[in-house]
Parts: sequence; C-alpha cells; structure tokens
Amino acid sequence: CKKASDIICSVVRDNKNALLGLATGGTAEGVYKYIVEEFKNGKIDLSNVKTINLDEYVGIGGDHPQSYRRYMDDHFFNHVNINKENTYVPITTGDIDRELLNIKEIIDGNGGTDIQLLGVGRNGHIAFNEPGERLNASASIVDLNEDTIRANSRYFSNIDEVPKKALSLGIGDILKSKKIILLAFGSEKANAIRELLSNDFITTKVPCTLLKAHNDVTIIIDEALSEKL
Ligand code: F6R
Repeated sequence: CKKASDIICSVVRDNKNALLGLATGGTAEGVYKYIVEEFKNGKIDLSNVKTINLDEYVGIGGDHPQSYRRYMDDHFFNHVNINKENTYVPITTGDIDRELLNIKEIIDGNGGTDIQLLGVGRNGHIAFNEPGERLNASASIVDLNEDTIRANSRYFSNIDEVPKKALSLGIGDILKSKKIILLAFGSEKANAIRELLSNDFITTKVPCTLLKAHNDVTIIIDEALSEKL
C-alpha cells in the first residue's frame, strides 16, 4: 500500500492537475491511509487533482454507509485538501444515460486517467467487469456475480442487502489510463494473479488478463499470495 501510495503521489507531484482513477474495497484502504499521511506531513498537495472512481452500486444512494461515495469520503477525500467538486464517484440514482456520458467526458476529456488504481476480485474481475463471454469496453450497468456478492457481503448485515447491480467503468476505460497499479493481497487472489502473470493468454473469463494489453502496469502482491504462485 505504501508503494502504491508513493507511485500515486509521484504522479501528482509531476502533474498537479492529474486525473486519478480510484478504486474502493479492502485492498485500497491502506493506499489511502498512506496518501493521507503524506498530506498530513505536508508532502503532497491535492487541491487541483481530479478523481474518478471505478464503480458504484445500483440501488443505494451516495449517502448509504456502504456506498462507494461514502467509502471515498471516509477513507480519503475528507482527510485531504481535495476539492470535492473535482471528485466523481458514479451516481446511480438518477439519469443513468447522462452519467455514462459524464464518465466518457471525464475520461476522454483527459485522454484517459493519469493513473488507475485497481484491486482484483477472487474471480479476476477488475472494476466490476465480471468473467464472461464478453466484457464491456466502456461504462455500463452490470450484474454482480455470485462470488462478488458473497465477498462483498462482509460489509452488509446480511447477503440479501448486497446490491445485485453496479455501474462500472469498462475495460476500455481502464486500458486508456496512462499508468496502472494493481494490488492483490491474500491467497484467495492467487488464481487470478497466476492467469495474469504465468502465461501469455488474454481471456474474458479472467478479466484482469486484459491488462496484458497495456504497457505500464505495476502489480503489487503480498507474501501470502506469492507463496501460492
Ligand atoms: C472496487 C472494485 C473491485 C475491487 C475488488 C477487490 O472499486 O472495483 O474490483 O477492487 O473487488 O476488492 P477487495 O479489495 O475488497 O478484495
């Protein structure tokens, strides 16, 4: 997480107007903790930075405790000097077509994000691009798969409360980023990372393998995962 924070902070130091592509989830929490620490130590200025998040649940508003808007405010935005008006977490309660256009404008207006932070699902999903015959190139409403609903139920009081759909950036949106960092911690992510690192195939059945088509990806794993590889 410290390494990922260092990479993100160096992108911001090089370009104070950078557009950061951000992720939520357990893995990313530590990254935000370290960026906040850099800010508190006076080592980073986020006042001109813009951000866009990968995804948001459909069916809960931004004020819901488990919404990704709330996650971002709680773990990151409320603790730094970012202008909240420059932070975009997909809005899933209003006119979805308008939001999909918004996302396109934010990403294409910057020629892709300057850096994209990614976690990965046990099934290899990136953002909420779940394994399947086809993957979306651009942002759209997607169905969460059983495994993802089960994994994310840890944040809800029971599994039935986990939304079944999300608005997610597409694989094309992610690949437009100038630089990508993917973090994967824990042995249960080993299958996904093995498919990414140990062969030369790309398959929509393991969406993170699409990252092989990008030429600036940093993959950071922990010891528990590396022991399984
Ligand atoms: C979150 C996201 C997801 C997570 C992935 C890993 O915005 O897009 O792809 O990165 O589900 O989640 P954790 O880190 O909770 O294991």
